[in-house]
Amino acid sequence: MKKIGILTGGADCPGLNSVIRAVVRKSIDEGFVVTGVKNGWNGLVDNDMRILDYRLTSGILARGGTILGTSRIVPPLEKRRVNLIAENFKRSGMDALITVGGEDTLKIALQLLREHSLPIVGVPKSIDNSLSGTDYTFGFDTAVNVATECIDRLHTTAESHHRIIVIEVMGRYTGWNALEAGIAGGAHYILLPEFPIEIDKVCASLRARHKRGKSFSIIVVSEGAQIKGCCQEDLDKKFRGGRHCVGRIGEVLADLIEERTSYETRVSVLGHIQRGGVPTAYDRIIGTRFGFKAVELVKENKFGKMVSLHNNKISYVDIEEAVKERKAIDSDLMEIAKVFYA
Ligand code: F6P
Repeated sequence: MKKIGILTGGADCPGLNSVIRAVVRKSIDEGFVVTGVKNGWNGLVDNDMRILDYRLTSGILARGGTILGTSRIVPPLEKRRVNLIAENFKRSGMDALITVGGEDTLKIALQLLREHSLPIVGVPKSIDNSLSGTDYTFGFDTAVNVATECIDRLHTTAESHHRIIVIEVMGRYTGWNALEAGIAGGAHYILLPEFPIEIDKVCASLRARHKRGKSFSIIVVSEGAQIKGCCQEDLDKKFRGGRHCVGRIGEVLADLIEERTSYETRVSVLGHIQRGGVPTAYDRIIGTRFGFKAVELVKENKFGKMVSLHNNKISYVDIEEAVKERKAIDSDLMEIAKVFYA
């Protein structure tokens, strides 16, 4: 009999409850007991935990967010907190800890592995799909579908009013959301953090579309994209009265486009809408498969690993490998997107 802890850390995302449910059900099947740690790593700092059973995990598969709550903690953790987490974990009598999270959560897991040899298994989560070591992080599919639906809606209003609409989607460091939602939504330009925005090129492409008789355009931009040759601070001063605007690239871009082309331009910022609500079937399935595999790894005492997806097969990699670098954008997909510009 094993005692397993589970926590969900960092930004929430659709599919977290599918993982929790699968971990609990598979554990019950194995004769293990699962303790839910509340609010990410904070639950281990504050000793805020409770046993999860059938009743508490029933009816949660389709629910967004996380029944355990979460918190954002930026690594590395200071020594005092790391020691406290390790101490409380050991005192709780748990044999393993399943940590469901993205880069930050898994980097803290790695810190605990290295400094205290905590028996940890990771599960990759992120609407940004930014973790390497797995083809896919759950939450991403839902976020892309939400953004695609929004792009479809914005398409019809842009066309009716002969406007440019800039749609800002999530993605601080990686442009997976913008790229996939942009392709699925038929965007006329897609801008990512990986490639600085060349504003002249964007405007030239919009003019070319207008010349072809298309009096509207859809531009999808990641919140983390930067404009080439423009200092973000200067743009903030010019367009936003000096207010700092991290994640406000959409507004800046819309203002620049309107100024340079005289085409009427509007902006829509999707933000946390992409993170909320029910998970897609795909995210529920992947979340369930990840949760199942995480318990299997615990059973086999395979710690320091993160469950992962490779060619649609569930497998695992070292957590160390998974957090080494962010997942690079698919350059083939980027080339495909470009065919539809202008
Ligand atoms: O890490 C996922 C993410 O959704 C990013 O795309 C976004 O920049 C960030 O979280 C927003 O985080 P918060 O909810 O803490 O503002």
